[in-house]
Amino acid sequence: MSASAVASAGQVVAPVRHVRGSLCVPGDKSVSHRAALFNGLGEGHARITNFSSGADCGSSLSCLRALGVHVERSGDRVDLEGRGLRGLVEPSDVLDCGNSGTTMRLLSGIVAGAGVFAVLSGDGSLRRRPMARVIEPLRRAGARIDGRDGGRLPPLVISPSGGLHGVEHRPSVASAQVKSALLLSGLFADGPTSVVEPAATRDHTERLLRAMGASVRVAGTTVTVEPIERLTCVDVQVPGDFSSAAFWLVLGVLHPNAEVRVENVGVNPTRTGLLTILERMGASIGVENGREVAGEPVADLVARSSQLTATHVAGELVPLAIDEISLVALLGLFADGETVVSDAAELRAKESDRLAVVADGLAALGGDITATADGWRIRRSTLGSGRADSQGDHRMAMLFALAGALGDGAEIAGAESVAISYPSFWADLERLTTAGT
Ligand code: S3P
Repeated sequence: MSASAVASAGQVVAPVRHVRGSLCVPGDKSVSHRAALFNGLGEGHARITNFSSGADCGSSLSCLRALGVHVERSGDRVDLEGRGLRGLVEPSDVLDCGNSGTTMRLLSGIVAGAGVFAVLSGDGSLRRRPMARVIEPLRRAGARIDGRDGGRLPPLVISPSGGLHGVEHRPSVASAQVKSALLLSGLFADGPTSVVEPAATRDHTERLLRAMGASVRVAGTTVTVEPIERLTCVDVQVPGDFSSAAFWLVLGVLHPNAEVRVENVGVNPTRTGLLTILERMGASIGVENGREVAGEPVADLVARSSQLTATHVAGELVPLAIDEISLVALLGLFADGETVVSDAAELRAKESDRLAVVADGLAALGGDITATADGWRIRRSTLGSGRADSQGDHRMAMLFALAGALGDGAEIAGAESVAISYPSFWADLERLTTAGT
């Protein structure tokens, strides 16, 4: 049975005999969103190469077009003309952020600061995601912004205000989307804006705003941005997405007959908590050809079959692996001992309730896993076959594909969602698992 055979009810994945070869994954989703959104506010022209092929970043581009930014896309290349910090125009319709929390939250900071009337909405998953975390602090800075259910949920409605004030924000959740929304709004404020994070999160916003001429200071987990008159457009060569590469690293480590090389991957230390976790569990991962591209560290990563021991993932490591933590549940099923993940309640607020979806899906495939209030307890298991429901969450679909390939096969419901971040996932799975046969 082929890995890409689609049954009417779901995608069927067969067990694989080996995992071999090298590949590049699509451009990083977080960096692609920022490269497009920030350059839309810049002055001049920007060329973005290796732009993410995922539908999420397409949502950012279509919102920018609706805000008056001229955007041309040709494959993974995007050319855009910045409109300057005060050049956005009022969109004639609702801004459709699709499935993308990053688009909605970053745009809320931009639109509130720019003083444009706009309504931001998205698909059923996005309309269930918490927005008070951006609405409340933006209001404290003087923004006029509201949302459904008393300001908790999308759609968001943003109106021109009398101008924003510089404020110190202390978000209770560690979230790069919240931090970024507040820093972006701070570009338009009347004084410095600080965000004091409960734990460090990905810093792509800080890096790119600096490259465009903004003053961004970092002291511990406090980031401060100064208001600015203009940002200068910069070209961005987007590194491969670590969060997509992570699936192949985990498949390579877990399969007994594997060696897989992922080239040109972003290895920003605020993203690579999974490498720390893999190392602790005893995995063999090579990090080669380290270099810097467009202000972001990049390397080639090599994963080989490994014997793993259980670990406990908690605390400050969680935000550094926030999109990869679900893979730890799969790693735990193959490790000696009991693997525990805690402090990860944020996973309930992602594209799906990932604590529940991971536990249900892996249990349906034979895994010994229990969801707790803020994580899971996972014990070594022999995976069988079965049907796992991704609940339309791209990362869940890819996780269950790996479980099916490593166990006795799986049927995955909602598998088309991989297009959100990794449209070529099924083709790459097929290539790595059939090469040389
Ligand atoms: C992202 C931040 C994270 C992550 C998401 C992308 C970003 O979300 O899960 O996939 O690009 O800033 P939170 O900020 O909600 O943790």
